[in-house]
Amino acid sequence: MLDMLTRRTGWDRGCRRLVLGCALIAAAPVAPTTAAEDAVALSVDLSKPGAKIDRNIFGQFAEHLGHGIYEGVWVGPDSPIPNTRGMCNDVVAALRALKVPNVRWPGGCFADEYHWRKGVGAGRLVTLNPNWGGVAEPNTFGTHEFMDFVEQIGSEAYLSVNVGSGTPQEAAEWLEYLTTAQPTTLAKERAANGHPAPYRIAYLGIGNESWDCGGNMTPEYYLSQLKAYSRFVRNFNPAQQPEPQRMLKIAVGPGGDGSRWTEWTDTVMKAWQGRSWSWDFDGLSMHSYTVVRWPPSYKSTGFGEAEYAQILKSTLEMDRLVATHSAIMDKYDPQKKVALVVDEWGGWYAPLPGTNPGFLAQQNSLRDAVLAALNLNIFARHAERVRMANNAQMVNVLQAMILTDKEKLVLTPTYHVFRMYVPFQDASFVPVSLDAGTYTQGDITLPRVDAIAARDKAGKLWLAVTNLDPNRSVAVEATLAGIRAKSAAGETLTAPNVDSVNSFDTPSAVAPKAIVAKVQGATLSLTLEPKSVTVISVEQ
Ligand code: AHR
Repeated sequence: MLDMLTRRTGWDRGCRRLVLGCALIAAAPVAPTTAAEDAVALSVDLSKPGAKIDRNIFGQFAEHLGHGIYEGVWVGPDSPIPNTRGMCNDVVAALRALKVPNVRWPGGCFADEYHWRKGVGAGRLVTLNPNWGGVAEPNTFGTHEFMDFVEQIGSEAYLSVNVGSGTPQEAAEWLEYLTTAQPTTLAKERAANGHPAPYRIAYLGIGNESWDCGGNMTPEYYLSQLKAYSRFVRNFNPAQQPEPQRMLKIAVGPGGDGSRWTEWTDTVMKAWQGRSWSWDFDGLSMHSYTVVRWPPSYKSTGFGEAEYAQILKSTLEMDRLVATHSAIMDKYDPQKKVALVVDEWGGWYAPLPGTNPGFLAQQNSLRDAVLAALNLNIFARHAERVRMANNAQMVNVLQAMILTDKEKLVLTPTYHVFRMYVPFQDASFVPVSLDAGTYTQGDITLPRVDAIAARDKAGKLWLAVTNLDPNRSVAVEATLAGIRAKSAAGETLTAPNVDSVNSFDTPSAVAPKAIVAKVQGATLSLTLEPKSVTVISVEQ
C-alpha cells in the first residue's frame, strides 16, 4: 500500500500559477445583494452554439477497492439490507437519479491483476487484492454481477481489460464470453451462468496506467500491447456491429503534468495517425487527481480556508492539462476523432483516521462540490475533445457520490452537483463571457466566479454558476442575447462552512435548495451565496 501512495513523485503537483481572469459565469439565489463593486456581468451568446457536452463526461468509476463494491454497491442477496440480486436498492436508486452514463470497472490498478474467470460461475476463487489493503477478494461480484448492476442503474459498461498481467487471449475470451451470439463453448457457459443473450459492452479500456501500476511500460512497449489487444479483443454482439453502436476502445494516455506525459501522448497519438486496418482506438485516457502533493495529506474534514483555496487552485490545473494534451492530439488528429477520456479525476485526500489506508476512505465536503463543478465546467468548455470522464470513485472511495454504512446511506455534496448538472448531459455548449473577478486567500488568487451555459434538446437554456469565494456573495447580471426570457429558477448548493459535510447523523447538512432569479427583458439577475454551486434554467 505504501507503494501505491508514494509512487507518484513524478506527478503534477498542481502548483503552477493559475491564469487569472478565466471566463466564468454567475447565477444567483435570493441572498442579500452585495456592494456594487461586487457585481459580476456575464453574457450568454446563443447565436454561437458550441459542441455537444457528451453525457459520458458524467461517468463513474467503480474499482474493487475498499468498500466501493463490497458493502457499497454489493450487499449480497442474503443481506437484510434491501437489495435486488445482491445490489443495494438505495444505492441503485440514488445512482439512477444521476443518469450515470457509464461505469468503468473493475479498476484501476485492480484491473491489471484481474482474471475474469475467477468471477464467473459457481465456486468462485478467493484471490488477493494486493494494491488496495492486501485484503482477500472473494470474486463474488464478477462479470454477471457488474452487468446486472449497470442494467439496474440504467448505464453502460466500460470494461477495463488486463494488459499488465493478462494476455490478449484472456481478454479476447472475456469479450467472446460476454458478446457472442454464436453457440460457442464460451457463449454456452454464459447462458448456463444465467445470460443467454449477448451483453452490450459500450467501452473497452485497454490497460490502466500502463506507465505505472499497470506494468511500468514505455510508450513504445505499451503501443505494441495496445495493437495486439485492439486487434484481437473483439466485440461480437450483432447489435453492436453497425455504427454508432460499435464498442469504443480507449488507450492508456497521460497521467499528469510534465514532459514524461506529453511524450507519452505524442508517441501514442503519432502511432494512431499511422494506424492500419488491424488496430485503432477511439479514446485516449487521462488521469489527474487533485492532490497537491503525494502522498495525499490534505484532510477531507476539519480544514480551513487556506486548504480550501489550495485545493481549488490545484484542481483548476485540469484546464491547462486538458489544453496541453488536446493540442498534442490536434497535431495528429485535427478532426478530433479520438476523444480525450479523463477516466480518473477527483480530490484525493489523506485516509480517514482509523480506516485501512489502502481503502482510500475520505469524507466529502462542500469544497468537493465546488471542485466537482469546476472540473465539469472545464470538461464542458473542452467538449469537442473531452467526450468522456469518470469520477473517482462512485461509492465509498475517494471523491464519492455516496457513502454507506451498513443500511445507512449518505448522498455527498459531490452527488448533489452531479444531480444538479443532469440537464447538461448531451446539451449544446453555449459560450459565456464573464469578467470573473478574483478571490484571494493568502498568496493564492483564483477566479471568483466560474460558469457554463448550455441548451438542452428541447431548446431550454441552462446556466451553472459557481461562486468560489467563501466570504462574499456575488450579484450577477446576465445578458441573455437571443432569447426572450420569462422566468428563471433552479437550485443552489451551499453550507455554513467550506468543510461542511453530510454525515450519517446529519445527512442533509449540505443539500440543494430552490432559488428564483429575477428576469427583466434580456437580463437575468441573481445573487450567488458564498462558496456555492448554482444551476438554473430559463423559461422562454
Ligand atoms: O483510483 C485509485 C487508483 O488511482 C486507481 O486504481 C489507479 O488507476 C490510480 O492510480
